[in-house]
Amino acid sequence: MTVHFIGAGPGAPDLLTLRGRDIIAASPVCLYAGSLVPEAILAHCPEDALVINTASLDLDAIIGHMQAAHAAGHDVARLHSGDLSVWSAMGEQIRRLRALDIPVSVTPGVPSFAAAAAALGTELTLPGLAQSVVLTRTPGRASNMPERETLTNFAATGATLAIHLSVQNMAAVTADLTPAYGADCPVAVVYRASWPDERIIRGTLADIAERLDAGITRTALILVGPALAGEGFDESRLYAVDYDRRYRPQTADSPWAGWSHGDD
Ligand SMILES: C[S@@+](CC[C@H](N)C(=O)[O-])C[C@H]1O[C@@H](n2cnc3c(N)ncnc32)[C@H](O)[C@@H]1O
Repeated sequence: MTVHFIGAGPGAPDLLTLRGRDIIAASPVCLYAGSLVPEAILAHCPEDALVINTASLDLDAIIGHMQAAHAAGHDVARLHSGDLSVWSAMGEQIRRLRALDIPVSVTPGVPSFAAAAAALGTELTLPGLAQSVVLTRTPGRASNMPERETLTNFAATGATLAIHLSVQNMAAVTADLTPAYGADCPVAVVYRASWPDERIIRGTLADIAERLDAGITRTALILVGPALAGEGFDESRLYAVDYDRRYRPQTADSPWAGWSHGDD
């Protein structure tokens, strides 16, 4: 018996991995974080599965359900939104399960920052503009931020920022970022990326706060940085006509000449 943690993706039910789908279909118990996991994904559960929404449960109760499944010899599919590596609360569950000697597996999912970038049709790392993406958040009621993980510190790098759990703090976000990025730095807010009611609001650090309407208070990602403009960047060397590389040797004396795929 295993507790299978599965990233359920950002919202669209067909953005679940095939591996995640198959584990759900083979597990007699499904625990899902109901606030963000789309109900359509539950259609993959076996007909007689025990399906529990954990949105209103505390950690003890969630682990209690996993222990009961373990005692009955039943696998559990444990669904969280997006990917499990960020803000999923998987860490604390796995720590408890390891202490109880209950086996776990982890299946990744499409994270919301990737779904938001896809909705924008934007690459977040553009040559000459940004080569790093910072996944971060601002402090919330349930979580403080470590002292050095401030927006001001991240802004000093000039990287593309993907700011989660923070659309309600937009005024503070723009105030912290404007000194480093400039008031005209492009910003995009993607609300419920990949859901049927997805919305995109574009602006700059100067005006994004006033462009947001009252309906956008949660489940939105703030993307900030020069790459969001989608222009003013260099082409990558990788596909340059004259770039000597393993798959496209340019001359007979290239170190790559004569290399075949079987060599690697
Ligand atoms: C608890 S975190 C979960 C993050 C998730 N594990 C992931 O991989 O993206 C919830 C935050 O992720 C972002 N988020 C999750 N789903 C989203 C979506 N479909 N569109 C935009 N932002 C989303 C929002 O910032 C939201 O406040």
